[in-house]
Amino acid sequence: MLSTGIEGLDNLLGGGIPEGHIVSVVGSFGTGKTTLGLHFVYEGLKNGENCIIISFDEDEDSIMENAKSIGMDLTQFGDRAQIVRLEATEVKKSMEKLESDLPAIIEDSNATRMLIDTVSVLETLFDDADRYRMLSTLRNILKKSNITTFITTEADKNNPTYSKYGILEYICDGSICLQMVRRVELEEPTLGLEVIKMRRIKHSRKTKPYIITENGIVVHEEAEIF
Ligand SMILES: Nc1ncnc2c1ncn2[C@@H]1O[C@H](COP(=O)(O)OP(=O)(O)OP(=O)(O)O)[C@@H](O)[C@H]1O
Ligand SMILES: [Mg+2]
Repeated sequence: MLSTGIEGLDNLLGGGIPEGHIVSVVGSFGTGKTTLGLHFVYEGLKNGENCIIISFDEDEDSIMENAKSIGMDLTQFGDRAQIVRLEATEVKKSMEKLESDLPAIIEDSNATRMLIDTVSVLETLFDDADRYRMLSTLRNILKKSNITTFITTEADKNNPTYSKYGILEYICDGSICLQMVRRVELEEPTLGLEVIKMRRIKHSRKTKPYIITENGIVVHEEAEIF
C-alpha cells in the first residue's frame, strides 16, 4: 500500500493505494485536484522514491510554485522529481508518440509514482470512440510500467461525482471525487471528498469534509458532511 500523503484519506482507504493502481481524481475547478496529486507525489519523494509529474495544464515553474505555496519544496529532490510538460494538441496529433515516449520516460526515470494533471483538455479533443481508445491506451502503458498513478480530470457539471465524459473512472482502478457542497444558498461552501471506487479495498463511501490550508489538504474523516 502506498500512502497518499493525506492522513485522513489514507484512513478512509484503510491504509492507502495498492501498488500499481491507476486512480482518477475528479472535481470541478479549484476543488484541489492538483493539490491532492501533489501530496501523493511529495509523499513518494520524501520516501526516497522517484516521481514524475506529467502536466498538460501548467508549466514546470507554475507547478513548483503551487507546491511551494503548500509547503512542498520539489527542488530539494533534484532529478528524482521530474516534471514533463506535454501539449494536448500534440498528443492528439500523434498518439504513437505517446505510446513510444511515455514508456521510455517512465523507464528512464525509474519512477514508482506519477501524477498526470489533467487529462481534461486531451479528453475534449477526441470524439467518443477515440476518447475511449486514447484512455485505454494510456491505461495499458501505465499497467505495463506498473507505476502507481493519479490522473486528474474535470467533473460533469450536472453530476459532480462523474468525470465530464464518464469514461476515465471505468478505465481506472480507483476514483476519488472532490466537490463543493453548498448546503444553503449564499452560505460558504463546504468541500467534500468521497472515495467512489478503489479495487481490492474495503473503503468508506461517506463524503467527508476537507479544507485546503497552507499545508495542503486536510480531510476531517471523523466529521460528517450531511
Ligand atoms: N497555500 C494555500 N493556502 C490555502 N488555500 C490554498 C492554497 N493554495 C491553494 N489553495 C486553495 O486551493 C484551490 C486550488 O487548488 P488546486 O489548484 O489544487 O485545484 P484544482 O482542482 O487543481 O483547480 P483547477 O481545476 O483550476 O486546476 C485554490 O483555489 C485555493 O482555494
Ligand atoms: Mg489543477
